[in-house]
Amino acid sequence: MAKPKSTFFCTDCGHETSGWLGKCPGCGSWNTMQESLKTDSTSKSGKRGTWVASDDEGAKPVGRRIVTMESIETGTTMRQPSKISELDRVLGGGFVQGSLVLIGGDPGIGKSTLLLQVAGQWPSDGMVLYITGEESLQQIRMRADRISIDSKSLRLLAATDFTTLAAAIKETKPDITIIDSVQTMYVEELSAAPGSVSQVREVTAGLLRLAKQLQTTIVLVGHVTKDGSIAGPRVLEHMVDTVLYFEGENLENYRMLRAVKNRFGATDELGVFEMTERGLISVDNASMALLAGRPQNVAGSVITACMEGTRPLLLEIQALVNETSGNFALRMAQGYDRNRLNMLLAAAEKHLGIGFQNYDTYINVIGGLKINETAADLAMLAAVLSSVNDKPTRDKTLICGEIGLTGEIRSVAQADKRAMEASRMGMKSIILPSGNKRQLEGVSLPDKFEIYFVDKLQEAIDIIFS
Ligand code: TYD
Ligand code: MG
Repeated sequence: MAKPKSTFFCTDCGHETSGWLGKCPGCGSWNTMQESLKTDSTSKSGKRGTWVASDDEGAKPVGRRIVTMESIETGTTMRQPSKISELDRVLGGGFVQGSLVLIGGDPGIGKSTLLLQVAGQWPSDGMVLYITGEESLQQIRMRADRISIDSKSLRLLAATDFTTLAAAIKETKPDITIIDSVQTMYVEELSAAPGSVSQVREVTAGLLRLAKQLQTTIVLVGHVTKDGSIAGPRVLEHMVDTVLYFEGENLENYRMLRAVKNRFGATDELGVFEMTERGLISVDNASMALLAGRPQNVAGSVITACMEGTRPLLLEIQALVNETSGNFALRMAQGYDRNRLNMLLAAAEKHLGIGFQNYDTYINVIGGLKINETAADLAMLAAVLSSVNDKPTRDKTLICGEIGLTGEIRSVAQADKRAMEASRMGMKSIILPSGNKRQLEGVSLPDKFEIYFVDKLQEAIDIIFS
């Protein structure tokens, strides 16, 4: 008998290799490669092909299944809004009928809570099936009571084997099925343990087929695991239609929901929630939440605006610059690229004549957010200079601009939206690159809101500290 073929997957990033390795070549994690049997071997039923992926239409001649582009009906994608505004924003308007959605995140971040709230808001003439493999029905009832969910459309089932949950979905034909969590579900035909790479992939493949066949929406919960003992959601990302991740370890009560893949909408949208005693609440005014408790008029704190999808967010950047006590200068950046920080410090040295070789530099983006935009360059450098000179930046002034290596300030995307958000949040002025002048023409901003356009780094710094 032929030896069953196996491949190895990294439980962290999903990287696939043909042999076992101690270190994942994809993400560099140690001890995360896990064996997964290739399912193209003969299954228990004696049929070739994986039992879930086997195609019912296999018997038809292939020629009849090839179609022209025009003959494909486009139809309309049916969306059901979840009525949770921040979730709908991230989904692109709501759950698409027949789609498979994966919600990942650390244990305890609020995945089950959010999905129970989705069930609570569902139209009463529809049906939500909540399949739990993790908590008992009593536990879910207690949570539902706590967050006052009294849904007529919610049906619950405690199950972990695929055959049972597939039968339940087929029998009850719900609008949406919630599987909490994919790591507890298993396919009996596979000998691997629940939560292993083979199991989570097989379960997901089966659910994908069900979702498409029955045109029902299925939401999978996937825990992000640090120790790699069970497979994380990363190994499933390519199989599902939409991937949302919950973030917010160091955000106290704020939780961010980000779409990293969305076949039915934009991927750069960010939803902001607050975890309260009564569940997750959508935060419409995210800038306000992020700026709450900000120190006023202190050195080393600067406000900038970053685009998160279609929405500008005001963020506080803090810098701390101290004389080095060791032999070499430390540079640390939380929520920002350290290489970019090094580049900005080099630009400051060249164009402003300020050297940082004898200073330790620390950067922190408040709220646990990560800045990936070059538009925050000028604000970042302003925070550093403010700390080193122990001088606050201009009062209530938002700073935006990319710094070029020749000391020029380069334009940023969507400057108009950033300026409008600054004014809405009570800022008095904004510093923007001259390249954005045209974009700001015709934008209605209060008369007393000042815009300073700058070309060169020195010119910008003069205004920031005037
Ligand atoms: P949960 O949804 O169970 O997390 P996950 O499914 O992602 O593992 O969230 C659990 C956490 O949320 C727990 O630490 C308690 C907290 N929580 C609240 O603060 N308020 C609430 O109303 C609820 C239901 C949970
Ligand atoms: Mg949970």
